[in-house]
Amino acid sequence: MSELLKMLGCRYPIIQGPIGMFNSPKMVAAVSEAGAYGMLALGFISNPDEVKKLIDEVRKLTDKPFGANIMLINPHNEKILGVLAGAGIKAITTSVGSPKEIYPIIHELGMKGIHVVLAFQHAIRAVTAGADALVVVGSEAGGLRSLNSESSTMVLVPLVADHVKVPLVAAGGIADSRGYKAAFALGAQGVQVGTRFLASGESPAAEQWKKAIIECSDGGTDLIPSNNMRTAERIIVTPWIKQKMDDQEVKNIAAEMDRHPAATGNYERAAFGAGQISALIKDIKPIKAIIEEMVS
Ligand SMILES: Cc1cc2nc3c(=O)[nH]c(=O)nc-3n(C[C@H](O)[C@H](O)[C@H](O)COP(=O)(O)O)c2cc1C
Repeated sequence: MSELLKMLGCRYPIIQGPIGMFNSPKMVAAVSEAGAYGMLALGFISNPDEVKKLIDEVRKLTDKPFGANIMLINPHNEKILGVLAGAGIKAITTSVGSPKEIYPIIHELGMKGIHVVLAFQHAIRAVTAGADALVVVGSEAGGLRSLNSESSTMVLVPLVADHVKVPLVAAGGIADSRGYKAAFALGAQGVQVGTRFLASGESPAAEQWKKAIIECSDGGTDLIPSNNMRTAERIIVTPWIKQKMDDQEVKNIAAEMDRHPAATGNYERAAFGAGQISALIKDIKPIKAIIEEMVS
């Protein structure tokens, strides 16, 4: 059994990529029930009681292991970690921020921490800070990116593998058995999958979001800078975004986007976060079917 699988305690070395704004106990449980590692996304949560409630809801649906992602810019992490450890969560991922201060706390609580890195230098720093494993995310991935020039999964994973000894999880551009197998060839012990699970039957994403993923073609996503122009997010280029790009108004997109289309009904200006792998996703499948095909 690989070091990563020992850490996760599940059957397959597949981690559900956390999606910051979503916490669906149903989806987390579906991933864990199918043998992979379901993940709660706690990056934007401030109330530890809410964390406890989410864990209880997942536990009602599965007795299999699952984890959680915390973002290191969240000032409430110490309390959240206490709840996670108290509930018996064994391995978590940490992202968006410096891992230096939090790793001694994670270890003191008896947990393993897997730090999410987008660049080679981050990987070296995270291992020095005590990360037990790394999720290495290539530039094709969905989610938050930097505005720097970045390497793809194909380049970044072997580059990091050549320089660190901790287990690696490849992320970015993995949706099926081909990507899964490639990750091992690149030096990873497992994968983290975001966009493919977003376009699943159990995903809480709006139907419009899932449809945008399955209709997305080659080159159909782009990096859109955030309001403060310090980070970027990979998003599906909808007709509204395309128009903004043609009008050279890219820097206004983040400010004018509708972040809560389910509440406003304004899907025209919605931000459908997704990775380049959307071009390969052509159907909405149950999570179990996605995982079974991936490991086949
Ligand atoms: C809409 C969206 C939100 C995300 N939110 C988070 C998050 O809160 N924390 C995190 O570590 N990663 C986040 N990610 C990254 C995913 O967990 C995962 O690493 C990434 O999607 C993998 O690449 P793929 O989309 O090609 O599978 C997010 C990705 C997307 C598409």
